Amino acid sequence: MQEDALNNLREALKLSPDNMLLRLMLAEALLNAKQADKAEAEFKIILDKDPSNEQARTGLAKAFYEQQKYSAAIVILEELLERKPSNAPLLLLLSKSLLKNDEPAKAMQHYKNLLAINPSANDEELDKHLRGANTAGGSVDDIIESLEDSFEKLEKPAINFDHVGGMNKVKEEIKIKIIQPLQYPEHYKAYGKKIGGGILLYGPPGCGKTYLARATAGQINAAFISIGIHDVLDMWIGSSEKKLHEIFELARRQTPCVIFFDEIDALGASRSDMRHSASKMLINQFLTELDGVQASNDGLLILGATNAPWHLDAAFRRPGRFDRIIFVQPPDAEGRESILRILLKDKPLGQIDYALLAKQTQDFSGADLKALIDVAIEEKLRESFEKGVPQPIQNKDLFNAIKQVKPSTKEWFTTARNYALYANDSGLYDEILDFLKIKK
Ligand SMILES: Nc1ncnc2c1ncn2[C@@H]1O[C@H](COP(=O)(O)OP(=O)(O)O)[C@@H](O)[C@H]1O
Ligand SMILES: [Mg+2]
Repeated sequence: MQEDALNNLREALKLSPDNMLLRLMLAEALLNAKQADKAEAEFKIILDKDPSNEQARTGLAKAFYEQQKYSAAIVILEELLERKPSNAPLLLLLSKSLLKNDEPAKAMQHYKNLLAINPSANDEELDKHLRGANTAGGSVDDIIESLEDSFEKLEKPAINFDHVGGMNKVKEEIKIKIIQPLQYPEHYKAYGKKIGGGILLYGPPGCGKTYLARATAGQINAAFISIGIHDVLDMWIGSSEKKLHEIFELARRQTPCVIFFDEIDALGASRSDMRHSASKMLINQFLTELDGVQASNDGLLILGATNAPWHLDAAFRRPGRFDRIIFVQPPDAEGRESILRILLKDKPLGQIDYALLAKQTQDFSGADLKALIDVAIEEKLRESFEKGVPQPIQNKDLFNAIKQVKPSTKEWFTTARNYALYANDSGLYDEILDFLKIKK
């Protein structure tokens, strides 16, 4: 029966030898019929005519594997995975080929990647090796759990620049300095311009640094990994440079990917009390990852944010690291107006005088504006319950709420001012002085 089907395909191909789809069917059928050598020949004919045919390439790798030509299979699979780093079947076949080819360490590495993508994947032989390789501690379950932990950090943000009010200059800078190099790397290479390195956002709390980082990923439809202060502290306690490395590796497998270090001063604190050895090792690991020495950071977009840039170790600012430093200032009136519009969108509204509201909210951060609206909404909800019907938010509700929320950005500037005046190495904080209208 199987032979019949194969013969039919062969006959059909005789009539139209250039029909690649038909040849692909024959090749796959041969593979299924355990005639891997013949399948190999057919896949090769297809690839001669159409070298970019990924299905044929995958088939060829399988044909090689079946014939125990493991190193040939590995070469093809590695190449395919470069383009499709999270393809589970390819990862599995590569892991198996590596194991057969006496490269268990590499096999395990790819198998772990596979488990991170598809925790329910399992292969008996690989599992056995994974267990054996880790007798010094963690079980397979531990490893899977830790991978799942870091995998949970992966998200695809649903917000983009349109959801971020104001910040036009910062958005523009991010576009030019990091989004375009990511999207058009060959243009940059053509002019010999180096790409890479990260952007550090700094400024008073609540002004949208974290929010903008997430929106940057959404803007280019990239994956997003956010490492916050708690993650860093956990790594400190466990002195886990390995964990940090795993996170970077996860990001490198998910390119394009924005990897975001929130409150990064926790990691790169220059205060002497934080310079104990655990943190030093972690910092060194971090710098190694940033430099992309051991692994390529192509397609990786590295962002950091801090309210206290002066606590950041200067080593972080060297070329190729966080060499672009952007001040995220409190929104001006225009910015506040646009933030208010965004925050009130889709809410039941009466007539709202946005321009006047913006004028009356000097020194409010984006987070303060959000708090203000929350206050107004709570008030409105109460009223709606009393009257039994939803009540639209009116101008006066918002103006009443302004009185109940204290703007929070001023305090930050009392500290920032001192650093800008007395510790402004190479004009790092000139933008703060400009903002405060202090002459340099
Ligand atoms: N420019 C903005 N546009 C829209 N919402 C904003 C903006 N800035 C801040 N917000 C709101 O305030 C919240 C807190 O901002 P966040 O990004 O956490 O500030 P930061 O990281 O600078 O401390 C955000 O989650 C968002 O809801
Ligand atoms: Mg933040």
